[in-house]
Amino acid sequence: MCGIAGYIGPKNAVDVVFDQLKRLEYRGYDSAGIAYLQGDHIEVTKRAGKLSELGKALFETPKIAQLAIAHSRWATHGGPTNENAHPHYDQFERVAIIHNGIIENYLELKQELVAKGHKFKSQTDTEVAAHVIGEEYANGVPLEEAARKASKRLRGAFSLVLMSHTEPDKIVCVRNASPLVLGLGNGENMLASDIPALLPYTREVFIMDENTIGVLTKDSVHVYDSDGRSIPIKPMHIEWDVASAERGGFEHFMLKEIYEQPQVMRQVTAGRVDDSGVVRLEGVFNENVWTEIDRVNIIACGTAYHAGLMGKHFFESTLRLPTDVYFSSEFRYGNPVLSPKSLAIFVSQSGETADTLAALRLCKERRIRTLGIVNVIGSSIARECDRTIFTQAGPEISVASTKAYTAQVMVFALLGLYIAQVQEVPGVRVEEWVSEIMRMDALAEECLTLETDIIKMAEEIKDMPLCFFLGRGADAFVAMEGALKLKEIAYIPTQEYPAGEMKHGPLALITDKVISIFGCTDSTVRDKVVSNMKEVQARAGKCLAITTSDDTLMEQAADWTIKIPKTKYDFLNALLAIVPLQLLSYHIARLNGCEIDQPRNLAKSVTVE
Ligand code: AGP
Repeated sequence: MCGIAGYIGPKNAVDVVFDQLKRLEYRGYDSAGIAYLQGDHIEVTKRAGKLSELGKALFETPKIAQLAIAHSRWATHGGPTNENAHPHYDQFERVAIIHNGIIENYLELKQELVAKGHKFKSQTDTEVAAHVIGEEYANGVPLEEAARKASKRLRGAFSLVLMSHTEPDKIVCVRNASPLVLGLGNGENMLASDIPALLPYTREVFIMDENTIGVLTKDSVHVYDSDGRSIPIKPMHIEWDVASAERGGFEHFMLKEIYEQPQVMRQVTAGRVDDSGVVRLEGVFNENVWTEIDRVNIIACGTAYHAGLMGKHFFESTLRLPTDVYFSSEFRYGNPVLSPKSLAIFVSQSGETADTLAALRLCKERRIRTLGIVNVIGSSIARECDRTIFTQAGPEISVASTKAYTAQVMVFALLGLYIAQVQEVPGVRVEEWVSEIMRMDALAEECLTLETDIIKMAEEIKDMPLCFFLGRGADAFVAMEGALKLKEIAYIPTQEYPAGEMKHGPLALITDKVISIFGCTDSTVRDKVVSNMKEVQARAGKCLAITTSDDTLMEQAADWTIKIPKTKYDFLNALLAIVPLQLLSYHIARLNGCEIDQPRNLAKSVTVE
């Protein structure tokens, strides 16, 4: 996710926004730039590389301005070069724009604009957006109206900030999906993509809602909805210090990222489903490819591998599309049998995992079609796959992956529904699936309200010597991800199995000290899972069950029960169950005094074999 900053007021705006960018450096970037008002025009200075490069170029001579916007970029469309860095001008150089997120339909817009004679200097989707805004602005409307009309033509998950020398007293911002926070001052106002950039200047902030437009002058801030209706601004006073502000006020990045999951679910779907329930995945293969594919091979590591298992479950149970999942580290040395008509899908949060990258290169040597499901835009795996679907989860800082997993599984569901649309798979009611998927953010919010009860359970079981994670179907795959969380942040040994496997050996490990966590969200096999639970309890083992809200019997069967909201589909119920499992592992680790965000022996991205 990119860093965004903007200031209007009596201070030197160039110094303020440059400082704000420095406070957003923790988010990662590969180029940066600033646009600032200089009399009757806008100056833009931007450089690839670190802020020090921009600083050298910017401060060769003192720069004084009362209005500036600034951006640190994570390479999106186009590599980290000076030309691709933001800000970008419109075609008349009357508007400067910075952007966060992805504009899915930028290619078709660019073709339309080129056909009208537009010339582009960069490879970015941002410059296309700038030209679309320039077209609207040329109609003589106020800048905010041009932004409002233009953003209706853009599809994707994005936020825009823009300024113009023809209206030198205002900054305009649009929040479609990517976060935007306004900083309210006295005789000055500002904005940023994240709170830490604002705190040295103001502690009164306003977090913009999705699909709203902001207009900032030095003495006023107004926010409007997408129809131009004014929205009341209720400032929030921030007490955090800067360090905790980077964690959004949470004690650890992991908890912040667990709580970001509803927002991430909205970001994953933004621009990818339309009002009639049709899935639109720009940039994946064209339709005849999907009718040809006869098998899918999913290749990944760790959490991404567990997301791949969920992808397999969806593709095989819903599309009847044969799917295998491989550990990247095994795939390459296993001399895999690959059908020429198969598709290889590489799942990776970082996009830099060495084993997954090596497996990708093997598939390319074998001339197998490759698709990435990646979070970090511009990463090696994203660049080297034939096509990539970005999870749009934002920067995941904590080593233990949470929101990236949820986003990856959601992308698998969207991809599966897209294939169902193209292949016209009988019996798959895409619009019903989409309707349930669009409820997931609210259901995940509900799961987060279970935290108080989960803390109590964590206090009871935090000293267990061993923990089983068990389930059937998709619950078994979520169990594996839940187990990995407990292992990697609480350092507690786990055993994870399909519940029916217990009798074939693992049951021998059950004692009265061992806890078994059962995923029971699939009502079609719940009675079988309860039987497995009884086998454990008959040997003095204690059981924690995660089930759905309509289940009235589990409390009599399990020692502890967590109830999550129910959806129409077992796949989605199982996915929701990961939220309490993430919270449980987090609180067990916290209560045991573990270092959570940087667990021992682990790295966020394993770039070595
Ligand atoms: C998961 O919590 C771990 N951080 C680890 O298993 C991770 O999922 C794995 O290393 C794969 O990383 P990637 O998604 O960046 O490729």
